[in-house]
Amino acid sequence: MDINGKIYKNFLNRIEQFNIQNGPDKIKKQHAKGKLHARERIALLFDKNSFEELDAFVTSATPDTGLGKIDEAFGDGVVIGHGHINGRLVYVFSQDFTVMGGSLGAVHAKKIMKVQDLALKVGAPIIGLVDSGGARIQEGVASLSGYTSIFHRNIQSSGVIPQISVILGPAAGGAVYSPAITDFVFMVKKTSYMFITGPDVVKEVLNEEVSFEELGGAEIHARKSGVANFIYEDEENVLLGIKKLLSFLPSNNLENPPYVESNTKKDNINEKLRTIVPDDPFKPYDVKKVIGLIVDHNSFLEVSELFAQNIVVGFARLNGKAIAIVANQPKVLAGVIDINSALKAARFIRFCDSFNIPILTLEDVPGFLPGLDQEHGGIIKHGAKLLFAFSEATVPKITVILRKAYGGAFCVMNSKNIGGDYSFAWPTAEIAVMGPEGAVSILNRKELQNSEDPNKLKNEFATKYRQEIANPYIADQQGYIDEVIDPADTRMKLISAFETLENKHVEQPARKHGNIPL
Ligand code: HXC
Repeated sequence: MDINGKIYKNFLNRIEQFNIQNGPDKIKKQHAKGKLHARERIALLFDKNSFEELDAFVTSATPDTGLGKIDEAFGDGVVIGHGHINGRLVYVFSQDFTVMGGSLGAVHAKKIMKVQDLALKVGAPIIGLVDSGGARIQEGVASLSGYTSIFHRNIQSSGVIPQISVILGPAAGGAVYSPAITDFVFMVKKTSYMFITGPDVVKEVLNEEVSFEELGGAEIHARKSGVANFIYEDEENVLLGIKKLLSFLPSNNLENPPYVESNTKKDNINEKLRTIVPDDPFKPYDVKKVIGLIVDHNSFLEVSELFAQNIVVGFARLNGKAIAIVANQPKVLAGVIDINSALKAARFIRFCDSFNIPILTLEDVPGFLPGLDQEHGGIIKHGAKLLFAFSEATVPKITVILRKAYGGAFCVMNSKNIGGDYSFAWPTAEIAVMGPEGAVSILNRKELQNSEDPNKLKNEFATKYRQEIANPYIADQQGYIDEVIDPADTRMKLISAFETLENKHVEQPARKHGNIPL
């Protein structure tokens, strides 16, 4: 064999070693836990043959600290690289739980930083597939330093490129904070969980018994903490969900979201919208049905569906163009604004503003949720976040008032006074300082106190108030809204209004950044 032959043989040997290390045994180990292997995940996520791996052969470089053996597997427990998803460039890191539990040591961290830097430099989204026991205990402070540098990069990239975290196993300790900073968190039911300290620590410190699932499973983070934006039954569906989300997002903050040929007539007049709001103002209806009748057929992707269900947020297409929707949900808690719904909507609005996605607000809100829990929990500062987010957003912003727009809620939900570009109302809109029942209790207190049948009288006053004051026409006459529209024409009106705003440009005063009430 000549010298070139030997060199080539060495090269092949290395690849053989690599394939043995990542062979069927490792894959079986993952499958036994009901999970896919880091490389299988990448294969499902990216367009066929488009993935290019980087740093496949690096090994842990940290000297033995005496805390235990470090596995010198190729790759140091994480696969990194880039590929195409539906033809668009995306960077990825995918942690390999079969190598020291996907724990993060110095080299592992450097690899993640490498793709973070590349993604930011070229302006492409980055996806982190997380399956990790957190900071690698044997590597001590080197792992902590690695995590911290990753967090710093997450923060530098925030608002510049979309960052998506996908939790596909444990995300313990330091592993949770990168996802927490990124724009969207996906989880899988039963096999993924996120927590700062695990059940053992909880037992030790608080003497409380808690399971992984109760502490930080997908359902808990989707419903209670709001940390997870999307949860799915299995990994295959999570990976499909990511592709759907990406289809609405630009690759970076300098681009517009991708356009897709519309599947619905532009001038679709939908008469069902005329009767969707019930005659009885106390009767709920499902705002998601309203959304479905306005946007392109089947295009709505709800974000954080299970958290704070009194507000609905998500992406959709209107005549082929991506828009974001923020809608009060009368079906849940009458659509009131409370702490959780304010936080959910504010974060979503800030994402959309960062990435040039116009916002449609569908308003039907009786006000802020009263009560000790809310006041002591800080509804003042949390509700202010929603106000701040709507007001600072410079993307095109349109509101349609479907029914109630009372009090502070009228001001907060993208009113024209905080920069809403157009405000339309349906004839069913009720715009006033407060709801009829509350208003007449104050305005007609004396008559009600002296009445023999105060309930009957209150109803009469409330009906009069609703007819004469709580309607859209006073606001229309005074120019606080732009037009009372036929609900059936809503789609046409919105398409045309958003078209006029395509070149919207707002100059901001020079400043480092605003100070959102965190
Ligand atoms: C080194 C680790 C590790 C870690 C797991 N492993 N976590 N090695 N550092 N952090 C290793 C295990 O020793 C084991 O090695 C292999 O990974 C698989 O782990 P198992 O425990 O067998 O798996 P499983 O039963 O599925 O349990 C997974 C787990 C558990 C729940 C994640 O391993 C665990 O509790 N790990 C520690 C989690 C944790 O407390 N992390 C916080 C670190 S502190 P072998 O050789 O047996 O296969 C932190 C702070 C950073 O992250 C703060 C930054 C802000």
